Amino acid sequence: MHSELRDQATQILLENDRGGYTVPTARLYPYQWNWDSAFAALGFSVFDRERAWLELDTLFEGQWADGMVPHIIFRRDDPDYFPGPAIWQSGTTPPSSGHSQPPVVASIIRHLMETGGPADRERAKVLFPKVYAWHNWFHTMRDPDGTGLVGIVHPWESGRDNCPDWDIGLNTIDVPGDLERYERRDTDSVDAEERPTSSEYDRYLTILKFGRECRWDHIKIARDGPFFMADPGIQFILLRADRDLLHLAELFDLADHGRQIEHWIERSVDGCQSLWNEKVGSFCARDLRSGEFSNAMTNISMLAFYAGAGGSDQRARLVSHANNILDRCHYGFPSWDPRDDKFESKRYWRGPVWAMANYMIVQGLTECGELGLAERIRLDTLRLIKKSGFFEYFDPITGDGHGGTDFTWTAAIYLAWSRARPSSQAA
Ligand code: DGY
Repeated sequence: MHSELRDQATQILLENDRGGYTVPTARLYPYQWNWDSAFAALGFSVFDRERAWLELDTLFEGQWADGMVPHIIFRRDDPDYFPGPAIWQSGTTPPSSGHSQPPVVASIIRHLMETGGPADRERAKVLFPKVYAWHNWFHTMRDPDGTGLVGIVHPWESGRDNCPDWDIGLNTIDVPGDLERYERRDTDSVDAEERPTSSEYDRYLTILKFGRECRWDHIKIARDGPFFMADPGIQFILLRADRDLLHLAELFDLADHGRQIEHWIERSVDGCQSLWNEKVGSFCARDLRSGEFSNAMTNISMLAFYAGAGGSDQRARLVSHANNILDRCHYGFPSWDPRDDKFESKRYWRGPVWAMANYMIVQGLTECGELGLAERIRLDTLRLIKKSGFFEYFDPITGDGHGGTDFTWTAAIYLAWSRARPSSQAA
């Protein structure tokens, strides 16, 4: 790997550090975000293990009494971001948003332990009950009927805000006449063409209003809220994280916890099958109220390998699908199939490539022996960073960087890969 880029990546993490927690990027996202922090910990672990654990510790300072770890923790009011703490009204200390985000933390903790020593094991042990409580929250509050399929109540909960996956759920939402007037701040720092539309924002705010008005009663939100969809991303990431948590439970001799986690895993493996869309030949998002499927493959569909989900026929179809998609891009893996009408190469989650998604895809493919495909995606990611810098996301056709600059998780992934491989294998 290039030592200059490695230094730059290190510098980005240090500059985005706000004292114990890291912002994803200055201005656009000035608070602590959930899965961004998990990837920040991965990046810090390459050069400062203490700082890596601190990132996770501060993330769990935002955990709610019911176990949820919110998607944003607001440590101070910052006028650069909308919607801030006054809109969410979580009633918690520190203030936070009212829903969660993909639970990658357990998998990052396992990685930190396996690349560390006894001190890392002790830190993991302290965090274990908190992570367990969070997974329990997902399996109960987001799957109140115990179906094995975990839902999301807001596109923001998936972390893939404006992916066409969510058009199905969003299209059923009527924006109420009394929705508060608001001013977006994201388009002050990023071109509107690279961000969600105003019609999507109206619906995001409508869902938020429902949660706030029922005082974040999670069961009510799941049962009666404006939006409830299953996300292959959350489903696969949680399943993977459960497997990693089970590994920790075994190491720490926590047999009761282990049995419960095994039960979650069993249920989730079955639940994944409800996301298989035969028409597309892939795992796709699905509306949990109407049963309607999203109709294209995404980068997140590829996390079936990371989760250990799907049978061998399904995986073979994913691989062939993936190769067809990659042949239509200069850089993989796009967040929406470029052959579909809804593909937009530079608009956030409607086409662009994301480094942290690629990191998880590569890990899963490698573990499943799909080494050629894994290496192609890893090298594409490195070529993007080399060509354009540490952007939030990248155009799969031109390779241009978009969204926020000097982005924490892009830097973190570069650092993680710089540790994983000898320099002879660099791009
Ligand atoms: C945003 O504000 O764009 C975030 O993605 C919401 O989490």
